[in-house]
Amino acid sequence: MKILFVTPEALPFVKTGGLGDVACALPCALAALGVEIRLLIPGYPSVLDQLRGARAVAELPDLPGRAHLVRGSGEDGITVYAIDCPALYARPGNPYLGPDGNDWPDNHLRFGALGRVAAFWPDPAWRPDIVHGNDWQSGLAAAYLALGGRPRPATVFTIHNLAYQGLFPRSVLAELGLPPESFSIEGLEYYGQVGFLKAGLWYADKLTTVSPTYAEEIQHEPLGFGLQGLLRGRAGDLVGILNGVDTRLWDPAADPHLPARYDSERLGEKARAKEALRRELALAEAPGPLAVAVTRLTEQKGMDLVLGALPAILADGGTLAVLGAGDAALEAAFADAARGAPGRVAVRLGYDEALSHRLQGGGDIVLVPSRFEPCGLTQMYGLRYGTLPLVRRTGGLADTVEDGKTGFVFSAPTVEAFVDAWTRARTAFASPRLWQEMQHRAMRVDVSWRRSAERYLALYRDLAPG
Ligand code: ADP
Ligand code: GLC
Repeated sequence: MKILFVTPEALPFVKTGGLGDVACALPCALAALGVEIRLLIPGYPSVLDQLRGARAVAELPDLPGRAHLVRGSGEDGITVYAIDCPALYARPGNPYLGPDGNDWPDNHLRFGALGRVAAFWPDPAWRPDIVHGNDWQSGLAAAYLALGGRPRPATVFTIHNLAYQGLFPRSVLAELGLPPESFSIEGLEYYGQVGFLKAGLWYADKLTTVSPTYAEEIQHEPLGFGLQGLLRGRAGDLVGILNGVDTRLWDPAADPHLPARYDSERLGEKARAKEALRRELALAEAPGPLAVAVTRLTEQKGMDLVLGALPAILADGGTLAVLGAGDAALEAAFADAARGAPGRVAVRLGYDEALSHRLQGGGDIVLVPSRFEPCGLTQMYGLRYGTLPLVRRTGGLADTVEDGKTGFVFSAPTVEAFVDAWTRARTAFASPRLWQEMQHRAMRVDVSWRRSAERYLALYRDLAPG
């Protein structure tokens, strides 16, 4: 069984969020189950620079300028195809945004090309049985294949976040070589625009999303973002499969980023990791829990609730450390909070993979108060690191954290509800025996990819038996 896994980002090449983690760990877990899986990714500079043994395997005459399909491999041995098209991808920085912080104006062409190459597959030496796309950037692959009218591979489309829809004006239809009849409710039209995500949802044979609860939530208002009717209609083809953690990269007993390594039998070493983190971030010694958050700073993540709850967090000796980047207003508000409470609140704005590990290693509680969360990875890192998650009951957070057992869960998206959960967490923290019991339970939760990879395999087998 040959799978082409189409993705706009993947570690270690490029990552802006959880999809980058998933597009590295899931293919590896599937390969370990014997699946022949290869990646297709845009040839951003960071991809072309890091590909091992890269060589061109086909010309791509439909793309602008001189373009090739390049084949190489990642450090884990997975075969990676990159679209080497400098006119579209030879740009530094964020894969989706220009230096002004706005979407690149030709994103429809940049990610239209990703779908096109996947659908009009140019490597005669290897042909996929299944094309598995991820998020709106890959949505056109299923559309081109379904509209092509030829024998074709089966298609799977995974929703990592329904809130990003890849919407473009109707005028791009012809530019993308899509037939006029596809611009329909029964097609890729979304409220008068061309929707790349809608294309994936409409045309793919099977749909998945990244947790069972999110699979249910998106079939209704408000988390369906206008697509709830379509998703309800396709409920028979839609399955929620929980993400896992890349246990090679996230293991407190072997994490090269940690100053002290530990497992559930050596939690004393976690105290050393906390002490090192406290010094690094110039936080005062304090009797209460050290809460950490590693997050994109967007409306989705609910970090405004943390700002609202700050007095409660700092009462009785709590401290807070936040690593995040995103909305200018939220960045400014967190920078203000740090200035207003020196030694009690530390904020690092920007993206820092190593610090994200040290925060999980040194924190007591990881905060994930999201308004919605398709799956969420940082709460699962927290479970594995004995850094108890405090989360809102939504999406994958609801599926991974058990209130009072492995973490703390609140329901209403309000400061009051957050503070209530915080108070329960602080009370538990004050009882070392209870806290350690919870840490042990959290660290025993199986957050690995094994079971979920088997579910993807079963889905692939349904689509391409034999
Ligand atoms: P999302 O994909 O919605 O951003 P996830 O929890 O699924 O949320 O994944 C986020 C991933 O990005 C995690 O691996 C997290 O550790 C990482 N991350 C988020 N923000 C930062 C940051 N500022 N610095 C380093 N890593 C970050
Ligand atoms: C998205 C979601 C996040 C999920 C990640 C990987 O970015 O926001 O919840 O964990 O994709 O699937």
